[in-house]
Amino acid sequence: MNKIWLISLILLIIMTGCGTRIILKAPVDDQTGATEEVNEDDYQGDTEYLDIEGALEDATDDTEKNENSESKSSSQEIVESDIVGYHDLIVDLSDKHLDVDITDPRLSDLIKHLKTNPYNHTLKQIGKVTEPDHLFALVNKLNQLPMSYIPVDLREPEIRFTFTGPDEKRNLRDVAASSLEAMFDAADAASVQLFALSGYRSYNRQRDIYNNNVSTRGVEATDKVSARPGHSEHQSGLAMDITSESAGFNLIYAFGETEEGIWVKENAHLYGFIVRYGKDKTPITGYDYEPWHLRYIGLDLASYIYDHQITLEELYIHVEKAIHLQ
Ligand code: DAL
Ligand code: ZN
Repeated sequence: MNKIWLISLILLIIMTGCGTRIILKAPVDDQTGATEEVNEDDYQGDTEYLDIEGALEDATDDTEKNENSESKSSSQEIVESDIVGYHDLIVDLSDKHLDVDITDPRLSDLIKHLKTNPYNHTLKQIGKVTEPDHLFALVNKLNQLPMSYIPVDLREPEIRFTFTGPDEKRNLRDVAASSLEAMFDAADAASVQLFALSGYRSYNRQRDIYNNNVSTRGVEATDKVSARPGHSEHQSGLAMDITSESAGFNLIYAFGETEEGIWVKENAHLYGFIVRYGKDKTPITGYDYEPWHLRYIGLDLASYIYDHQITLEELYIHVEKAIHLQ
């Protein structure tokens, strides 16, 4: 064996023997670009290592899942009244100017709704969603659904899912289910294959997912990506997480750049859905970008929001202000 081969062989043995470990940097904050070190063994692509929507939790054995969530709930649970730090990401919108043309006919139903159902916009308290069955119900960090709220008209849409077997997360409220079926049909016709991953979640299930994330990553990182119980649109039965084979059937930022993610961004409003947590909207929604999370809000508002590229929070506060100025 010549000298070069011998040196190469020795180097190879040393590297393997040392158990070289690569440390990956995973994005944890879309706004600041801040990163956190994640061991490659834990890393599952973009934000997926943090089990935002409970997809990984679902993959675990049921017994183990129940035991884990029980022990975590007792030590880590965030109680309803604990709002310390919860609003840190959100900016106060009340003094911001935004042109909302309240003569636009697409806003007339919302105007009627907000006249009798004003939402909490202050950062000092948590408001209660008083009409949780309403399709315009605003569920966010500042407005909480009742703990006992379960939509009465949940059903499973006939669409493609990433998983098999029965699960409550297949469900959506009837109108949202029909609209999502139409959207999947249209996507199929355009040769775009979408997969649904997670729809309705009970209050308790959201609590377990949230607490599981807290026990893995801590409260601060979790609050950027996972809603506290009562604060998730998934409990309203109007939200579905969508993914694609090209995104590895995961809920990752990269889905937004896939052919399927771009199709969803450009077409969801035609079926009454909005991409709820937009890029660069974190200071307003309080959540990182989620190109996979669709919220049903009806054709009129979805189309208005798409045209103006605004969030539900911006629309609602400015329509309320305009109503009071009338
Ligand atoms: N990931 C969204 C914010 C939720 O947990 O509802
Ligand atoms: Zn979601």
